[in-house]
Amino acid sequence: MTRKSQMRAGKLAARAEARTEESRKHVETVVGLGMAAPFAGRWEQLRSEALRAQMSASDLNGRLTAATKAFRLLLQSGVLALGAWLVLQGQLTPGAMIAGSILLGRALAPVEQAVGQWAVVQRAMTAWKSLSVLLSAVPATSAPMDLPRPSARLSVRDLAAAPPGERTPALQGVSFELAPGEAIAVIGPSASGKSTLARALTGLWPVLRGEIRLSGATLGQYDREALGRYLGYLPQEVVLFAGTVRENIARFDPEARSEDILRAAKAAGAHELILSLPDGYETVLHEGGGRLSGGQRQRIGLARAFYGDPVVLILDEPNSSLDDPGIQALNRAIAAAKAAGKSVLIMSHRPSALAACENVLLLEGGRMRAFGPRDEVLRRFIKGSPSVLAAATQRGAPSHG
Ligand SMILES: Nc1ncnc2c1ncn2[C@@H]1O[C@H](COP(=O)(O)OP(=O)(O)OP(=O)(O)O)[C@@H](O)[C@H]1O
Ligand SMILES: [Mg+2]
Repeated sequence: MTRKSQMRAGKLAARAEARTEESRKHVETVVGLGMAAPFAGRWEQLRSEALRAQMSASDLNGRLTAATKAFRLLLQSGVLALGAWLVLQGQLTPGAMIAGSILLGRALAPVEQAVGQWAVVQRAMTAWKSLSVLLSAVPATSAPMDLPRPSARLSVRDLAAAPPGERTPALQGVSFELAPGEAIAVIGPSASGKSTLARALTGLWPVLRGEIRLSGATLGQYDREALGRYLGYLPQEVVLFAGTVRENIARFDPEARSEDILRAAKAAGAHELILSLPDGYETVLHEGGGRLSGGQRQRIGLARAFYGDPVVLILDEPNSSLDDPGIQALNRAIAAAKAAGKSVLIMSHRPSALAACENVLLLEGGRMRAFGPRDEVLRRFIKGSPSVLAAATQRGAPSHG
C-alpha cells in the first residue's frame, strides 16, 4: 500500500538532488543570467513534493504498524481470557494459560516485524528487477584477445550511427578511407552529424549499420581500454577532471611516466602554455577544468588526446576556442602527427582546420554529401569557396567562422 508514494518520494528527491548538483556545476550560467531564484523555487517545490510523498508513505506505514500491533494485543488478551475461562472450568492449569499466551506472542512477532519491514523487502525486489533489466539491456562483453598495435588505417563503409538507445540514425551512408599519414577534414553545418561521426569512430555510440575497421579489425574486436589508447579523441566539449594538469594529460594513469606526458604536451604544442601556469604541470584543476581559460582547456585536452602515442587522432572542433598562435600550434601538431605515420580526422567549422587536410568529408543533415580531395570538394560544393580556400591554405591566417 505504501509502495507508490515511497517510489514517488524517492524519484522526486533524486530529481531535487540532481538539480542542486546541476546548478552548482553551472553556477556561472545560473547566477549570470539571474536564474538563481527560479532554480531555488523549482528545487524547493521538488523537495516539498518529495517530503509530502515521504510523509504520506510513513503515515500510512505507521498506521498499519499500529493496527497490526493493536490486533496482536487484542489476540493475546483474547487468548489470555480464553485461558482464564478454561482454568476456571478446571480444563487447563494456570501454567498452560501463561504458556499459551507466550506462545501466541512469539508466533505473531515475526508477522508484525514483516509488516514493519515490508518496505525494505519491496525496495530490494525493485532494485533486483531494475538490475535485471539493466543487465539484459547491456550485453555481456567477453574480454577480446589482445590484438597487436594497429596501423593508422581506418576504413568506414556505409556507416549509420545513433545515440545510445535510439533507433533512428543521426548519421548514415558514410563511407571513407583514411590511410596512415593522411588527414580528413569533416565539415558541414551545425547538427549535420560531425560529432556523431566522432563518437561512432571512438566506439562511444553504437553502429546501426555498416562497419568501422581500424587496421582491418572492427572496433569491437579491440579491448575497450586499448582502443581508448589507440584513438586520440578530443571531444567537442573538453572536460577536465579534478586533479593536476599532469594527471589529466596522463588520463589518470597511476604509472604514467613523465617523459610520455612531456612528449604528449610537446606534440600538442601545449608545453609552453602549461609551464606558464602557476604550478606548471602540477597546477591543480577543479572539477570541470576551472582555473583555465577555454583555449587553455582545449590545448590541454589536445595534449591528453596525444598521450599514449595514439595511431588515429579524432579531433572534434579542436580549434573552436583557439587564438591564432593556438591554431598554428595545432596545425604544426597535426603535421607532425602525419609525418609520424598517424592519421587524423578533424571535425570543424573553421577554414583554418582545412590547411592540414588533403581530403574533405562533407556532411549535411546526417548524410554524406561528398568525400574527396580538399580543393575539389570545396570548389564543387561550397559557395564562395575561393575565399575559404584562400583562408585554408594560408596557414594560421586569421579565420572567421
Ligand atoms: N546526446 C544526444 N542525444 C540525442 N541526439 C543527439 C545527441 N547529440 C546530438 N544529437 C543529435 O544528433 C544530430 C547530429 O548532432 P551532432 O552533434 O553530430 O552535430 P554536429 O555536426 O557535431 O553539430 P555542431 O557543429 O553544432 O557541433 C543532431 O540532430 C542532434 O540533435
Ligand atoms: Mg559537433
